[in-house]
Amino acid sequence: MGERHFISDNAAGIHPEVIAMLERASRGHAIAYGNDSLTQQALQLFKQHFGAQTETFFVLTGTAANVIALQSVLSSFEAVICADCAHLHRDECGAPEKFLGSKLLIAQTQQGKLSVATVAPLLRDTAMVHRVQPKVLSITQCTEWGTIYTPAEIKTLADFCHEQGLLLHMDGARLSNAAARLNLSLKEMTADVGVDVLSFGGTKNGLLAAEAIVFFDPQLAKKTGFYRKQSMQLASKMRFISAQFLALLINDLWWKNAQHANEMAALLERELKNIPQVELVVPVETNGIFARIPPSWVPCLQQHYAFAVWDSASTVVRWMTSFDTTAEEVQDFAQKIRNMNEDNAP
Ligand SMILES: Cc1ncc(COP(=O)(O)O)c(C=O)c1O
Repeated sequence: MGERHFISDNAAGIHPEVIAMLERASRGHAIAYGNDSLTQQALQLFKQHFGAQTETFFVLTGTAANVIALQSVLSSFEAVICADCAHLHRDECGAPEKFLGSKLLIAQTQQGKLSVATVAPLLRDTAMVHRVQPKVLSITQCTEWGTIYTPAEIKTLADFCHEQGLLLHMDGARLSNAAARLNLSLKEMTADVGVDVLSFGGTKNGLLAAEAIVFFDPQLAKKTGFYRKQSMQLASKMRFISAQFLALLINDLWWKNAQHANEMAALLERELKNIPQVELVVPVETNGIFARIPPSWVPCLQQHYAFAVWDSASTVVRWMTSFDTTAEEVQDFAQKIRNMNEDNAP
């Protein structure tokens, strides 16, 4: 152990402040299933960060957060519109289809972002009994390509959804990275711009298996407790999820961790400038870098640091930074990439 990766922010460990909070939470006994004081404090903190109306439910995985959030507001004949690259669509092994029994309607995107123009064509023929009825638009913030929706863009999508009778869901597995980059609060990125329900990620930002479903209208949350239990996501030792969110939200650790991860990606971006064979295919806005590199470089570089090949056809790779990535690691990795360039110079 001890090796470091650029493979994903969920390859990182647990932040020491979170471990300290877990240790404190472990002293003595507490009532199970969320009926404990730490959980009550954590739920209050969500109200402070996201707004007094907020209803929050803790779960263990981001997939569960997405599925239970959507299940709470959908009937089986209703559909979810999401991006072609959405985690919901590509990386959840059909869990939404299985547990919602609902269809996903896929919109094509450039660099992960949906717009009214790309979503509107999927709303034709509504009210026709032969067609599924779009009910939710799901966006990912930041997107799977690390790009960011500005608050104005979210508001435009939310207004459009509400005019059309749809709800806006945000997969915020990396919402903290987007908020840190724009220097905005979590509320300014969600409740204030019309998001109806959020999957809020903790695991990629220094927690251990801790995610939250956040409703901004309590009316939407009435069935969620039951679906969470039925989906086997009601943790009996809930206080350990709650303790992690306390650590994350009390002293703005969410912001510090995300900001650091973003800065490390920005540093890698700067280090990679002027390497002719490294082409960044998406602007670096948060903690992921997507680059096209020569295919022969991949196995050589992976001997030093693990990372993902995002698109094998075009050899686009993804380099992710996390709360514990160091500047030295970034510089060392960049040097290894420069060496590849020099060794393979024409
Ligand atoms: C955009 C997005 N949503 C949700 C998730 C959560 O996934 P998991 O179920 O693995 O916690 C991830 C993890 O990779 C993700 O990238």
